[in-house]
Amino acid sequence: MFGIFKKKNSEKRFGQYLEGISLLTPLQREYSTIKNLSSLKKKVHLLTMPDLIAEGPFCSKLKEVEVQYAASGEATKLVGSLSFDEFIKRVMPKDNRKYVFHNILKDPIACSLIPQLIPIPSFFKKKTIRDLRISRLFAGGKYSGTHLHIHSEALNYLVSGKKLWIMFPYSDKNNRFVETKNMRYGQIKTSAMQWFLDAYTELSEPGVLDELQVFIQHEKEVVYIPAGCHHAVVNLEDVIGITYSWV
Ligand SMILES: [Fe+2]
Repeated sequence: MFGIFKKKNSEKRFGQYLEGISLLTPLQREYSTIKNLSSLKKKVHLLTMPDLIAEGPFCSKLKEVEVQYAASGEATKLVGSLSFDEFIKRVMPKDNRKYVFHNILKDPIACSLIPQLIPIPSFFKKKTIRDLRISRLFAGGKYSGTHLHIHSEALNYLVSGKKLWIMFPYSDKNNRFVETKNMRYGQIKTSAMQWFLDAYTELSEPGVLDELQVFIQHEKEVVYIPAGCHHAVVNLEDVIGITYSWV
């Protein structure tokens, strides 16, 4: 009982906290204007994509897909599986401790369906989903999230919902901060939301990090994550989408 009270309390605090902070919007572009990746100059971008598929048709095409879900926060720690439809309708509205982070490349059905719904971008040199390093289908409840982590270049397509991103580039100073504060992936034991509440004041202190960016991604927006860029996410609403990542 006390646990539920504590959780509700920190969710309320988080909402108020968010209103008080200044969000630093990254570079913005229209997705369809990107002709090649080099034009993004390895900088975080928020790309608008008005023609991104809507939630209804996206979910109805994928409803039969058996998806694996993880513990929220540590999205690679898989804990179970069920149909996408069941997760969206039954689990997601009630339980934000579970997070779908389904490896599309290991699932032949999802692998053929996903690129029909969200085409591999024309600005990729390689043109098929099989050429990607990884692709994930994600879904998670309000206030689920993912702790700080890094990986190869990626695009995150948000079909529905709203995400808060905390990002800072790969640099000696930033890497040292993550190391010394024990914020490497797997080291943080609280929820991503609680981590943000605890760490934001320090993260945003002038001079502590190079180029910290905290911003909100809305549906039909795509975040471009440069290689090695540190990032954490707190979902401000129930979210559904996919990621494409490549080397
Ligand atoms: Fe990521």
